[in-house]
Amino acid sequence: MSKSGSNHTVTMTDNVTGKTATFPVIHGTAGAPVLDIRTFNKEMGLFTYDPGYTATGSCQSKITFIDGDEGILQYRGYPIEQLAEQSDYMEVCYLLLFGELPSKAEKEKFVYDVSHHTMVHDQINNFFRGFRRDAHPMAVMCGAVGGLAAFYHDSLDIENPWHRTVASYRLIAKLPTIAAMAYKYTVGQPFIYPRNNMGYAENFLHMCFATPAEDYKVDPVVAKALDTIFTLHADHEQNASASTVRLAGSTGANPYACIAAGIAALWGPSHGGANEQVLNMLEEIGTVDKVHDMVKRAKDPDDSFRLFGFGHRVYKNHDPRATVIAKAAHEVLEALGVHDPLLEVAVALEKIALEDEYFIKRRLYPNVDFYSGFILKAMGFPVSMFTALFAIGRTVGWIAQWNELIEDPEQKINRPRQLYTGAAARDFVPLDKR
Ligand code: ACO
Repeated sequence: MSKSGSNHTVTMTDNVTGKTATFPVIHGTAGAPVLDIRTFNKEMGLFTYDPGYTATGSCQSKITFIDGDEGILQYRGYPIEQLAEQSDYMEVCYLLLFGELPSKAEKEKFVYDVSHHTMVHDQINNFFRGFRRDAHPMAVMCGAVGGLAAFYHDSLDIENPWHRTVASYRLIAKLPTIAAMAYKYTVGQPFIYPRNNMGYAENFLHMCFATPAEDYKVDPVVAKALDTIFTLHADHEQNASASTVRLAGSTGANPYACIAAGIAALWGPSHGGANEQVLNMLEEIGTVDKVHDMVKRAKDPDDSFRLFGFGHRVYKNHDPRATVIAKAAHEVLEALGVHDPLLEVAVALEKIALEDEYFIKRRLYPNVDFYSGFILKAMGFPVSMFTALFAIGRTVGWIAQWNELIEDPEQKINRPRQLYTGAAARDFVPLDKR
């Protein structure tokens, strides 16, 4: 963290107690500077109150930068648009984990190492039999990923950099295997083992859609599109799931437990679960003539319904990931010759919402989830798998954030305070007197 603005301070006075204190403002490489309030309670006798952390920086980070007003997303300084077009997911993983783009030799070794961790312990297969066949893949993933800690005892020492590296590679490598197994289990097909000679996205598609009965060739257009989806979802700084991973990690919990916590947080419809809800919503709308009614409902203050795939806590101009993925959605659908009538509904919804005063005033734009579902649907994934796919792509981001946390000497156990508004102290009343 740069202290280049070290003469930049903010002085606060409590108009009741008269206490005054001065706090330093710290400037980073880009983005809004932060007010360092670590001594705030000691100096002022107050805590800060910020539900939803809308004004709170929880850590310093060198991984991802977002400017929500400008619609900028960068991994380690590189714009997401350039990475999506010119790079690939394995390279992006290396960049997020190690801070720089790999050389050719470094990339080859990284791809080799990750691909040689893709198999799961054979005993893990037995876990799956305990689930109902109609279990949601995210429920299965929460359990199976957390369960990895029971198998890989040689990578649980978080103070040991080698253990952390091995755990990181294992998680990136095994998440697709576990997600594919969750899918195969729900459709009643045998598990397909990973193939180390295939690319990351290609291997995942193969594990999902191949069967032992015949050869299955992955369509390169589909593999490329999925690789791009993974790239777009790879990290997003201190979002709800990354913050959950960091919070769990701050207690010293092992990496498999922390990533399982991230998967649980991602599942919610306000976060990663939104891509599933977008498709459900479009199916409910059904035809273009019903779009107006849905927009009306979304605007009604007495109706809790929201347009899924619209709005973002940080992006208040446009979601740069949405721009890349909207283009990819049209290309994939065209290449696969898929005509999805829901796309017409989506286009109509997007147009109406973008011209509507309610959405303009609140700066609500389509987010990445608004479009990703079409590509995934065209690839043959059921809606229930959408968030699981998001989790695969995001795992590397969670790991990079977790590693950064462990190596940060300023990090402590994450333990927010509260404003207590419950009953004042009172004496216990025995049962016969109540
Ligand atoms: N549809 C209708 N109204 C909305 C929507 C929406 N999708 N999103 C926000 N609003 C309205 C709110 O009702 C509120 O209106 P008000 O000022 O009249 O009360 C205003 O816009 C601000 O909304 P907040 O909830 O304060 O915004 P916040 O930043 O807390 O929420 C969130 C962001 C959770 C993403 C929200 O926009 C939402 O629920 N969107 C739909 C779910 C979704 O698509 N999530 C995916 C996010 S991207 C991702 O995780 C990859």
